[in-house]
Amino acid sequence: MDTMPSTAPLILPSILQCDYGNLELEIRRLEAAGVPGFHVDVMDGNFVPNLSFGFPVLEAIRRTTKLPLDVHLMISNPAEYVTRYVDAGADILTVHAEVLDEPQELLDKIRSLGVQAGLAINPPTPVETIFPALPHCDLVLVMSVMPGFGGQRFDATAWEKLTVLRDRVDEHTILEVDGGVNEQTISRCVDSGAQFLVVGSALTGQADYAAQLDQLYALATKETPC
Ligand code: DX5
Ligand code: ZN
Repeated sequence: MDTMPSTAPLILPSILQCDYGNLELEIRRLEAAGVPGFHVDVMDGNFVPNLSFGFPVLEAIRRTTKLPLDVHLMISNPAEYVTRYVDAGADILTVHAEVLDEPQELLDKIRSLGVQAGLAINPPTPVETIFPALPHCDLVLVMSVMPGFGGQRFDATAWEKLTVLRDRVDEHTILEVDGGVNEQTISRCVDSGAQFLVVGSALTGQADYAAQLDQLYALATKETPC
């Protein structure tokens, strides 16, 4: 299994809005465009008002690509399922702080399963609530939309939270932002400390994945596209 490079910034495509009838083709197109891994959004119709997919689809993605899978669990009862998501192929497994009284225990369990442990917070959740759990996180996911759907507008509070976290986490903890990351918002995400940039509709909504990924990287690194 490949591991995710730690150099920043990295753009991870959310496959939420891919063509599921051609999932293998979508994965191949994104691989050919040069993505470093995939962000996989799991929704339970309870924690979020939408359903996406579960183990069989994640297992199918795992069989299709060797790239790392960053699995975002938008589910109400993650403790019951983390082992199965690791077995299904996750390399990073992120759970939401809003459904955990003491996230530390579950984060430690995820680490003990041999994968990286992530903790996510929604826009209304104060960043201070996760301070005690930070030493147990390999990744912190700052949501910049209310989770459930792609294509929403970026919530500017995410930039403030990233800036606070950047000064608080150790050098090994990855900061990730998810939701509404596009040509207009990506640069400030990097400036605010985000290392992993989840991009859904701003990539999979485009015809040419490679050209769009290049453009987003150019904006993220403030280089002029050639
Ligand atoms: C939202 C998901 C995101 C989403 C991103 O619930 O967690 O990963 O698919 O899509 P965009 O980039 O379109 O906001
Ligand atoms: Zn996500």
